[in-house]
Amino acid sequence: MNRLASRIERTSNSGLDKLFAAKKENQIVFSAGYPDHKLFPEQELGQAAKEVFEKNQLKLLQYNTSVGLPELRQKLVKKMAWHDKIKTDNDHVMLTQGAQQGIYLTARLMLNKDDGLVVEGPTYIGALAAFQAYEPTFYEIPIKEDGMDVNFLEDTLKTHAVKMIYTVPDFQNPTGAVMSLEKRRQIIELANKYNVVILEDGTYRDLRYSGQNLPTIKSLDSEGRVIYVSSFSKILAPGLRLGWLTAEDKLFKALIGLKSGADIESSNLTMSIVNTYLDDNSLENHIALICNCYRQKKDAMLSAMRKNMPSIAQFTNPQGGFFIWLTMPKNFNMDKFVNQQQLSKSGVLITSSTNLYPSGNIKNGARINFTGESLANIEVGIKKLGQALSAAWDEQIKNKIIQVG
Ligand SMILES: Cc1ncc(COP(=O)(O)O)c(C=O)c1O
Repeated sequence: MNRLASRIERTSNSGLDKLFAAKKENQIVFSAGYPDHKLFPEQELGQAAKEVFEKNQLKLLQYNTSVGLPELRQKLVKKMAWHDKIKTDNDHVMLTQGAQQGIYLTARLMLNKDDGLVVEGPTYIGALAAFQAYEPTFYEIPIKEDGMDVNFLEDTLKTHAVKMIYTVPDFQNPTGAVMSLEKRRQIIELANKYNVVILEDGTYRDLRYSGQNLPTIKSLDSEGRVIYVSSFSKILAPGLRLGWLTAEDKLFKALIGLKSGADIESSNLTMSIVNTYLDDNSLENHIALICNCYRQKKDAMLSAMRKNMPSIAQFTNPQGGFFIWLTMPKNFNMDKFVNQQQLSKSGVLITSSTNLYPSGNIKNGARINFTGESLANIEVGIKKLGQALSAAWDEQIKNKIIQVG
């Protein structure tokens, strides 16, 4: 007899775990959202760890509060004030186990089975995994270069009972799109009008390679209905498993209760190390350094793509973040291509679009990460990918001609 909860059926096939499976020798991984491990500030974090053990001794290894280390929260209040124009205070910032936990806790806070949830189509696969556990009814809003299609969103809100909108307005995963200021304002207006909560995911916001920063949606929030999550994963290191969230009082208090029930608190040890790292080092300088490196990698990948992709392939040129989005003609099946011999033999991994839409209906796109691999691997990997894609497309055309003939 099956004794598992019904939600398991929907969560066990998200594909997220496979994405971060250990890399095999000779593989070139463009499929996962890996930062460049050479940029992790290992020495500085090691030094901070040493200092923390010398200074704090027993206090360091004791239980703490669910919201997390006050000194680190204070630093995040300041960071959000100058970088994101978010006005908050120490009592409304919580340290989480990555932004992922912020998303998960918010899903737990908001969603009963079958509740309406708007997501961008395509969206972040890990958010879908978190949401699916609560069995919502998904509404996919197509995303354009300047963010989600707001007219489509309005029609959806008019005709369906929606409780929450999840959006990644800055360098969206997976398309790299940046939501325009006008749309940020419109989305707040719509949320106010239709009494909807917005979960804003700012995980890539610090990683801008060109253009000007836009205000966060949270900074435009006039009724306290935006929950903002972000993370140290992409700007320091994902192994820290450290992120944060901020929300208005009522939502925040409920989130504290959920955090206590989930894991009591984030690791006091990690929070103390990151706090000391931030005392001793300039996070802005570190972010500038990684932006420089990622800008180069993105440019290298785009130039390799222009040389090697078949002419029917379209791809984005994002202003920041981690991903280039590739689109093939509608009748191309990327799932089949990703699993087929030609590509897997070449050892190049990309993420097909299917799992990035809750409906699983759009099959002709792919997410390609440009930050995790070396410049040399980017060159080699894109050449192989281009050749395999051209061969697969030629074969599809040939088969069609034979069928018609
Ligand atoms: C949009 C987005 N949000 C959240 C996360 C989760 O990040 P974290 O490592 O902070 O949990 C990711 C990770 O790739 C992401 O792409």
